[in-house]
Amino acid sequence: MAGTGPASPKVTTVSLRRMKGRGERIAALTAYDYPTALLLDKAGVDLVLVGDSAANVVYGMPTTLPIGMDEMVYHTKAVVAGTKRALVVADMPFMSYQPATEPAIENAGRLLKSGAEAVKLEGASEPVLERIARLVELGIPVLGHLGLTPQSVHQLGGYRLQGRKPEAREKLLADAVGLEQAGCFAVVLEKIPASLGKEVTGRLGIPTIGIGAGPDCDGQILVLHDMLGVFEGPGYRFVKRYAELGSRIQEAVSDYCRDVREGGFPASEHSFEPDADR
Ligand code: KIV
Repeated sequence: MAGTGPASPKVTTVSLRRMKGRGERIAALTAYDYPTALLLDKAGVDLVLVGDSAANVVYGMPTTLPIGMDEMVYHTKAVVAGTKRALVVADMPFMSYQPATEPAIENAGRLLKSGAEAVKLEGASEPVLERIARLVELGIPVLGHLGLTPQSVHQLGGYRLQGRKPEAREKLLADAVGLEQAGCFAVVLEKIPASLGKEVTGRLGIPTIGIGAGPDCDGQILVLHDMLGVFEGPGYRFVKRYAELGSRIQEAVSDYCRDVREGGFPASEHSFEPDADR
């Protein structure tokens, strides 16, 4: 695995940009807790996002809107504790940055004080661009997010493909340029046509990280639970399932229940004699 050995350097917002320059792809995933962060970091993931998708995959909520700053801070601290090499980015949750610049600065500051090395904001409306420019000015790196922005799900009318019509493509391209100009170090592109992912990637000097944005982005990100197959069901078109952990976990737990009920566990090797304390 190139560049991911024990001596491989810490990933930073600056090194991600160099990766784009060298044509090296960025591998990103979400994480929400210490053990998975540890595993992702050891496996060589470049960027770990403490996503507000925690609302969906950790708390079982139908959208990302209900999750708040306190939860994002808890999850960020846990992920930071498990991460050495990867860049840790924390999502700013719904309404933590939209209303005004001052609370946006305070909330981004809380996430950085919790160990995140950057924050992610959705969209490129005028107020959001203003917040991003101010955060960057204050030394807080920002990852942008365009296309399907889940915090706007009700305005978008569902989790639909974005940037289909020519005007929508032009708008997304202009928004991406706006995010670069505002100082973002990279941009997530979610659920847009592959051709548009390619066009934005060619237009920007900063890296693009795709999720359902085709193969030509500078990097890719997936929600960890989706790619590990934690939940049943067909899943999304843009997700490749690399494991079926849900059924593996269920199998292991039902084996355990059977052993406990039938006396197969604990056996003598799991039990103590008076002279042994290990
Ligand atoms: O919250 C999240 O997991 C995200 C990714 C889907 C990019 O924003």
